[in-house]
Amino acid sequence: MPLVSTKEMFAKAYNGGYAVGAFNVNNMEIVQGITEAAGELKSPVILQVSKGARAYANHTYLVKLVEAAVIENPEIPIALHLDHGDTFELCKSCIDGGFTSVMIDASSKSFDENIALTRKVVEYAHDHGVVVEAELGTLAGVEDEVSVEHGHESYTRPEEVEEFVSRTGCDSLAIAIGTSHGAYKFKASQCTRNADGILVPPPLRFDVLKECIKRLPGFPIVLHGSSSVPQEFVKMVNQYGGNMPDAIGIPEDQLREAAKLAVCKINIDSDIRLAMTGNIRKYFAEHPDHFDPRQYLKPARQAVKDMVAHKIVHVLGSDGKA
Ligand code: G3H
Ligand code: 13P
Ligand code: ZN
Repeated sequence: MPLVSTKEMFAKAYNGGYAVGAFNVNNMEIVQGITEAAGELKSPVILQVSKGARAYANHTYLVKLVEAAVIENPEIPIALHLDHGDTFELCKSCIDGGFTSVMIDASSKSFDENIALTRKVVEYAHDHGVVVEAELGTLAGVEDEVSVEHGHESYTRPEEVEEFVSRTGCDSLAIAIGTSHGAYKFKASQCTRNADGILVPPPLRFDVLKECIKRLPGFPIVLHGSSSVPQEFVKMVNQYGGNMPDAIGIPEDQLREAAKLAVCKINIDSDIRLAMTGNIRKYFAEHPDHFDPRQYLKPARQAVKDMVAHKIVHVLGSDGKA
């Protein structure tokens, strides 16, 4: 099947009590790792491209890599989504350039400015058969060149969501309930420590999520910043020359709970980076004489595939839903 929009994917996910994984893609190995896992598990999947990914790899290369994945995996629905579009022009360029979904992230603007810019993107996108994700509330962490310090994030205000969705016409809404971007999602002072000295983060704000769901029945909710920062990869990075103390993510069981509710899209990028980096560091340490990129990118690609397969089955619940 050709690239699809997320409309039908989300309707099925909402009713089926699961979420679709949205994984960031930056190169061929990442596209292959993600889609091989989704293909084998018969899972729908969203491949998302950030402004930084476009700057790194070039729009055309990324679109063509994704189109190749669609040809190689004809049995699963694949959507191509712009992650954190920050201007109308960027969204328009992706809509004109073959994306089936875009995010306009005007969450750092005032409520009315967010609505105005989101509405403008929605009008253009819908005229071209493309769906739009918007955001209300701000996450902590780093995305592209925007960095929000811990303590400066703000949870979504449920009393604003109905007005926002009806005035913008957006197709899905990213909300802030305590997730954040990157591999350091919580400061040590926000956490407790378990017996092994590993940080245990505060729980997600399910009260805010449930209040949003009550006010937007049937409407797809999106969670950004949903990497779990698996400690096996953090250990691997640190064991083989890296230095990532106190890297910590969102516990998988909480994401699974969210996926059973109205959360239809769960964004994961940092876990891909960790899986690749840990495995490449290990490979270099164990094979100091090797210099063929295919040798060290092969286990890195396999690690992405294994990690995505784990997410599909144990976190998203989207296996067999293609
Ligand atoms: O939300 C941010 C994503 O992890 C994309 O990151 O802007 O560095 O490509 P990036
Ligand atoms: P992570 O940094 O938790 O992987 O979040 C990725 C994301 O939200 C992309 O938009
Ligand atoms: Zn994000």
